Amino acid sequence: MSSKAKEETPKAATGTITMDEIWVQGGRRLSGSVAAGGSKNATLPVLAATLLAPGVYHFTNVPVLKDISTMLQMLARFGVTSRRTDAHSIEIDTRNQKNAEAPYELVKTMRASIYVLGPLLARYGEARVSLPGGCAWGPRPVDLHIKGMEALGAVVDIDHGYIVAKADSLRGSTVSFDISSVGATGNILMAAATAAGETVIENAASEPEITALAEFLVAMGARIEGLGSPRLVVKGVPELHPADAAMIPDRIEAGTLLAAAAITGGDVEVTNVDPSHLGAVLTKFEAAGSSVERADRSVRVRAPERPEAIAVTTQPYPGFPTDMQAQFMALLSVGDGASSIVDTIYTDRFTHVAELERLGADIRVEGNTAFVQGVESLSGAPVMATDLRASAALILAGLIAGGETRVSRVYHLDRGYERLEEKLSALGASIRRVRR
Ligand code: EPZ
Repeated sequence: MSSKAKEETPKAATGTITMDEIWVQGGRRLSGSVAAGGSKNATLPVLAATLLAPGVYHFTNVPVLKDISTMLQMLARFGVTSRRTDAHSIEIDTRNQKNAEAPYELVKTMRASIYVLGPLLARYGEARVSLPGGCAWGPRPVDLHIKGMEALGAVVDIDHGYIVAKADSLRGSTVSFDISSVGATGNILMAAATAAGETVIENAASEPEITALAEFLVAMGARIEGLGSPRLVVKGVPELHPADAAMIPDRIEAGTLLAAAAITGGDVEVTNVDPSHLGAVLTKFEAAGSSVERADRSVRVRAPERPEAIAVTTQPYPGFPTDMQAQFMALLSVGDGASSIVDTIYTDRFTHVAELERLGADIRVEGNTAFVQGVESLSGAPVMATDLRASAALILAGLIAGGETRVSRVYHLDRGYERLEEKLSALGASIRRVRR
């Protein structure tokens, strides 16, 4: 690791949990230009995919996040070594890889650890991966991952909290999902890449992160058709080889930075982003009264003093992402009128509501719908982050709340945002991290 990278290593890169807080002084209108980083949700499955073939991999535009270091810790359990070659580049070496168990103590900290299931089964014919368990907003089953492995011919049991999957050899098959799952689509793609014959995934997830994973697998020698569509066809190949890749931009981080403009009546440009990945989000910013300029690799939002009230319903991509739901709830909490937010992906992803109400928001939840009555203003208070996107929403609300908002448990934030407070500060926010 170069001396510069060593100096700047934030706690996020070391995987330690911090009890830091972020304190925001509200009332500043944000303006300026800021770059989005690489995508967390694109990097995680690509890192897991390195288990499919021995060799050395080079990845660029890799964000410095707690979840990335958790996945690197997971890979290390399989004898995989990794090193940062600069702040946002990683070298992965899988030449001394061996099969092992994906332990509960790691999987419980990050559900995406389950992405090792498909690659291990494909590589070794056997995988032992801890069940992730629940999360802040209730049960998050993995039945579709298991269904997918079984469709490819694996025998899967649950043993003392572990998924135990075995297969002498995997063979192609058709897997059709009732609901579109990002994680299960990714796992099946990785398992099917070297399975005998053809696999068809119907109602596959088509999130940009899945398309990026498929493109990476193709670079490793896989044969996959239908990229970007809900029907993926994988023609199994005997073996794969290492490949290099640049991570796609983080559309959710970019959406969050643009929401900071929208909520403060600001004028912000986000660069290093693919506007086509944010289609539904940008349309909602426009519906809420902002003017949106889309360029090749950047987006600019110029917002009115107060957003208009709108209706939002989350959907699988290319619909409105559930990972932007909390941020829009913060925005609409000061909207001019009554808004509604329906989350069809996680019907109980509303742990941020009570904390926004502490800042003076007026929100009523019925089933998977939040009715948000816009208020004139919010007032700063101590609030507690409950999960990754909820923590971003509380910081956004703090940007306009009168006085100071102190957000605790920001270790949630560090899982998916690299130095968000510094990026917002560069746009004119009065915000700082208080080390604890
Ligand atoms: C991915 O999670 C993202 N995580 C999530 O982002 C995101 O919220 C989610 O997709 C939906 O867009 C990563 O990419 C690492 P799913 P994933 O399988 O793969 C149900 C963030 O903030 N389901 O698409 O776990 C599930 O309960 C995170 O960065 C089953 O029923 O999501 C949900 O209702 C949070 N059985 C729906 O499908 C299964 O086996 C979609 O889940 C799998 C999923």
